[in-house]
Amino acid sequence: METLQSLVTGLMSTLNTYTVHECVASVCENILKFTEADRCVIYLMEKGSDELFSGAYATRGGGYAPEKFVKVGTGIAGWVAARGAPLILDAAGADPRFLEEWPLNGEAPPLNASVIAVPLISFDSFVGVVEVVRTQGEGFRKSLITDLQPLANIAGLAIPRETDDGFARLAEVCIRFLEEKDRYTHGHSIRVMKYSLMIAEGVGLPHSQMEELRLCALLHDIGKVIIKDSLLGKPGRLTSKELQTIRMHPTIGFNIVEKISKTLSRKIRSHHERFDGNGYPDRLQGDNIPLASRIICVADTLDAITSDRPYRPARGIDVAIEEIKKHTNTQFDPALVEALLKANAEGRLHLVRV
Ligand SMILES: [Fe+2]
Ligand SMILES: [Fe+2]
Repeated sequence: METLQSLVTGLMSTLNTYTVHECVASVCENILKFTEADRCVIYLMEKGSDELFSGAYATRGGGYAPEKFVKVGTGIAGWVAARGAPLILDAAGADPRFLEEWPLNGEAPPLNASVIAVPLISFDSFVGVVEVVRTQGEGFRKSLITDLQPLANIAGLAIPRETDDGFARLAEVCIRFLEEKDRYTHGHSIRVMKYSLMIAEGVGLPHSQMEELRLCALLHDIGKVIIKDSLLGKPGRLTSKELQTIRMHPTIGFNIVEKISKTLSRKIRSHHERFDGNGYPDRLQGDNIPLASRIICVADTLDAITSDRPYRPARGIDVAIEEIKKHTNTQFDPALVEALLKANAEGRLHLVRV
């Protein structure tokens, strides 16, 4: 987790200035350290072909390797690519899939090597394979496959998509990281984003502002990235000091996002303001709270009530709506509560499962 944290914090601050190659190379180096392997190769799918090529290569000794191409279906990476499934091997020297990848740099295959390879997924599509090799010593523990997958997911995000938007990509990296940190909030950002859009539709938010709302909602809790995992996942009551720390997340989020977008950061800062002025961090009131923040505030509560929590199971949408109705005018903007009720009555509001 430590490596994952430093990796993502590094990526977050530099992703917009990094080239794809640099991003993948940085992830590759971190995976090498994280897995205590001797070699890590990130293979990327070559567009319009059935080949993978080594987009990044890292070795313990810092050696350089020429670009390598692997056909889907051959070698270890090709096997993982063909099935979209991870693979773990001990005494890999006896496995024909491993032998197919050698010689490498003129070296003979290390017969006692252990290998783990996991698919690289970017936004639900397969884009490559991460392969780590220990040439000698102890094999990899099986659970490393589960630990490696989030790192591979992050590497996958560095790969540009057809309609690439650097900022949206950065947002997704941050969110994935946040959700890896805190299992209980898994899917929270995406659900809040979807609920926010449902509410926004009801109040006729102009199309041009929808994309901004989408990103704001996705990033609203990004400030939690630097709050300790143990505190985020704490099941019992929080002390007032702990509560104070958690309540810093809108300001931390503001500081992070401000470097990229001033308008987005302001809205993220205000997502815990209350309509009556009793929220935080600035005790803004009514229309002084940006509309996007007011929308996210309602969506956030809707998701909090309808999701499992460490201390209670999820409750139904009707319970959530009753609860939100009770806090009209105090916590929530009445126009937005009305939009939510209307969406529910018209069958446009439905629970999102992520
Ligand atoms: Fe929040
Ligand atoms: Fe939230």
